[in-house]
This record gives sequence, C-alpha cells and structure tokens, in this order.
Amino acid sequence: MKKHPIGLFDSGVGGTSIWKAINTLLPNENTIYLADSKHAPYGPKGEAKIIELSIKNTEFLLSEGCKLIVVACNTATTNAIKVLRERFNVPFIGIEPAIKPAALQTKTKAIGVLATKGTLSSHLFHRTTDLYSNGITIIERVGEGIVPLVESGNIESKIMQDLLKRYMEPMLKANIDYLVLGCTHYPYLIPQLTKILPQHIKIIDSGEAVAKQTKAILETNQLLSLSKTNASHQFYTNANNVSVMADLLAGDFNVSYLDF
Ligand code: DGL
Repeated sequence: MKKHPIGLFDSGVGGTSIWKAINTLLPNENTIYLADSKHAPYGPKGEAKIIELSIKNTEFLLSEGCKLIVVACNTATTNAIKVLRERFNVPFIGIEPAIKPAALQTKTKAIGVLATKGTLSSHLFHRTTDLYSNGITIIERVGEGIVPLVESGNIESKIMQDLLKRYMEPMLKANIDYLVLGCTHYPYLIPQLTKILPQHIKIIDSGEAVAKQTKAILETNQLLSLSKTNASHQFYTNANNVSVMADLLAGDFNVSYLDF
C-alpha cells in the first residue's frame, strides 16, 4: 500500500497549487491528479451536485489504487467531505479557508475571505467563522468569474485584473490586514493581488498546512512511501485544457485528457 499513489481531485486545474505543496514536502510519493474541469466551476452548483461529482471523482481515484485522497478543492471539501468519509474506507484530507491563523493574527481586527459561493454558504464554513469571528470583522466576497478565467488560461488578463480590483475594494475599505484565499485556484492570482493590495496586507492560502496534514495522516496510517526512486505523477483533465494545466505545473509532467 505504501507505494500506491496519493489521489487528488479538484473541480479543475486550481488544485495543482495544492499538489505542488504536497510534492514539495513529500517528493517520494506517487500521485494521480484529477481535474474535473468539464464541470467547473463547482461554486455555483448546489450541495447535492457537488457531493455527486465528488463521489464520482473519488471512485475514479480509488479505481486507480489511490491510498489516500486529497480533496484539493475548498468547495468540494466544505460541501462533501463528510459524505466521502462516511462512504469510502480511505483517509481523506480536505481543505478549508484558513480563517483561524488570520483571525488569530489580525491587528486591524478585520480580515477578508475570497472564496466561491459554495464554500461561503456551506455549514462547515459557518461553523469555522463562528468559532473565530469573535471581535473580528470578516469581509466575505464570492470570487465570481475567477475560476473560469483560470481554467481557460486567462490569469493575466485585464478582465481578471478588473474583477480582482472590484472584489478587493470593500476589503480595503474595511482596513483588512489579512486576505484568506478560500479557493485552490486563487494562489495563482497572488502576483496580480500583490499589485492591487498595499504591502502590509498578508495573503494566506492553505497549501502548506494541507501538505503537513497529508504527511501526518500518511504517517499515522503507516502509508508513507519509503521509495527512493523517482516518484511518478499522472495528471488528468476531462476538458480541453491540457495545455493550461501543463503551464500551471510549469514542469515536465504528463498531463492527459481523460473522457470522464
Ligand atoms: N478550486 C475550487 C475551490 O477550491 C474551485 C471551485 C469551483 O470550481 O468553483 O473551491
């Protein structure tokens, strides 16, 4: 089992930001990444649909022999991870907006959260914000339109820059000093965001925390790979964006179209 791959899925190519963090910490682990880009964005879909798609993605990864599943998508985690854990007998790692570190460290007592509609409206998100929002203003903003632009390789476009400016405006007005990126597509926008935001605003994403958690759970379950040979990585997308994913990965990786 130790040599079996870690499986990751996302509604699209954004979860590769999580894959990178995991691969940096655990370079000996084989991985399979599934981008369900055909159904992106998940954000505006209701909970039932997100659960259905998450089950389908998990079934594929398990059929490929994955030993652990990383739900590399905030929207799928906040809507579906409970069902996935009940239904499948493998460890799951999820990802949620990193409200806690931002809430604990803010000096201005105002933090911003940019995430999808599906994440911001989920029970899990509300539970977390209830826990940490005491005395703190949380400015939530749906990043409508961002995921499709990342999926189509338009990260540096003017339309993206305009959207980000619009979404940051109420946060700047509220004097936030932390911006939490609550969607795995958004770390790819950090260069654009740093052009819009003043330097003192810190941007937080959950990649490193998820990688550490993945390592810890592999250790606890005695699933950590002991292999010294080069790990193998397979990337699949079910839409016409193989080159977008390859560009984001920025390395010599095997990205394939999968009719899924
Ligand atoms: N990467 C997904 C997330 O973290 C994007 C969701 C979507 O497809 O709307 O939420």
